[in-house]
Amino acid sequence: MKGFSTRSVHDGDLSLRYEGAINTPIFQSSTFAFPTDDPRTWNGEVPEGTYIYSRNANPTVKAVEDKLASLEGGEEALAFSSGMGAIATTLLSFLGKGDNIVSMQDLYGGTYNLLKNEMPRLGIEVKFVPTTSPAELCAAIDKRTKVVYLESPTNPMLKLIDIKETCRLAHKKGCKVLIDNTFATPILQRPLSLGADVVLHSATKYLNGHSDVIAGFAVGSKADMALVHPRRKLFGAIMDPLPAYLVGRGMKTLDLRVRRHDANAMAVAEFLESHPKVTKCLYPGLRSHPDHELAKAQMDGFGGMVSFEVKGGRKAAEKAIKRFEVISMAASLGGVESLASMPVNTSHTAFSKEERKKLGIGDGMIRLSVGIENVEDLCQDLDRALR
Ligand SMILES: Cc1ncc(COP(=O)(O)O)c(C=O)c1O
Repeated sequence: MKGFSTRSVHDGDLSLRYEGAINTPIFQSSTFAFPTDDPRTWNGEVPEGTYIYSRNANPTVKAVEDKLASLEGGEEALAFSSGMGAIATTLLSFLGKGDNIVSMQDLYGGTYNLLKNEMPRLGIEVKFVPTTSPAELCAAIDKRTKVVYLESPTNPMLKLIDIKETCRLAHKKGCKVLIDNTFATPILQRPLSLGADVVLHSATKYLNGHSDVIAGFAVGSKADMALVHPRRKLFGAIMDPLPAYLVGRGMKTLDLRVRRHDANAMAVAEFLESHPKVTKCLYPGLRSHPDHELAKAQMDGFGGMVSFEVKGGRKAAEKAIKRFEVISMAASLGGVESLASMPVNTSHTAFSKEERKKLGIGDGMIRLSVGIENVEDLCQDLDRALR
C-alpha cells in the first residue's frame, strides 16, 4: 500500500477523468441529467456511478469521501455538512427507541449535549461512564446496548482509552463501537485497524486544517455505511461540493501539517510543564501524562492539542489569553494557526461545574490548539502573556 502522503495527495482524485485537470472539479450542481438512453432510468433505478441529486451524492463529495476512506482504511466514507451532522446521523442510524448507548463521560461538549439531552427525548437511554478503563466501560453494557461511544484522545483532558481492548470487550457483547478520531486524525491513529466499527470526524478541524469550512465524516464498512447513507439523505446532512473541494485540498497536506502540529505541541508542552505560572500541563507526549505509554503503543504521534492550568485560576487564565499576540482566542482547533480557549466558557458550557470538576477540568484551564507557526514565537507569546 502507498504511504500516507501519497494517498493524501492522490486518492479519490477524479482529475484524470475530466480534461486532464490536476484538481478535482467542483461540481456545483444540485441536480444531474438522467441518462435517458439507459433503460434502468425508466424503471426508477439509479445505475452505479450515476449522479441524480446532490442531497444523495455528488462527484466532488465522492472524491473527498474516497480520500478519507483510503486514509482511515475503511471500505466507505460518507461526508457531512458538519462533525455534529456526522455524529447525530450515524447514531440515529444505529439506534432506535428502547436502545441504549454506553459512552465515555469525557466528550466534546456538543456530543455530550446531544447524548444527554436529545437522545433521551427519542427514547434512547445514554449511560455515561466516568472512566477510560475498557473493562469498567464495557461492564455498563446490557441487553439493550447497541453502541459504545468513544473519543481518544479526549477533549480537553487528552486522556486515552485502549481502543483495541474496548472493541474486543464490546464486540463480545454484540455492540458496535463508534469513535471520534478528530483529535488524532488517521495520520496518528487508525481505529478501524484496532477493531472500531465506525470512525467519526469533525473535518472542520485537522482534516481541512485551515479554519474555513464546517464539515464532517463517518467511515466504516460498506454494510454499516449502507445504514447511514439513506439517513444522511433524509436528514439533509451531506457536505456541499465547495466545502468538499476545500476539505480535499486541505487533506493533501494532512501528513505534513499533522507532523508539524505534533512537533510544535511537544515543544510547547515541555515549555509549559516547566513554566512557573503553570500548575499542570496535559499532553500525551509528556512522560508525566498518565496515558503516555498507551499513547506510544496506540498512536503514531501525540497530536497538536495541549491543555494547561494557569496559576491563579480563571481570572489569571483570562488575563493571559487577552495578552496573546500570535495565538488567538477562538473555540475551534486543528487549523494552521494557534488557537486558545477555556473549556469553562466554550466547549464545556453544557457540563455543570460539578461535572467539569469530576472530569478534572479546572476553571483556569486553557486548551491550546498548537498551530504550525515557528515554535519559538509560540513559546515567547505564551511566556510573555503568562508572566
Ligand atoms: C472532538 C470533536 N468532535 C466533534 C465536533 C463537532 O464538529 P463540528 O463543529 O464540525 O460539527 C467537535 C467540534 O469542536 C470536536 O472537537
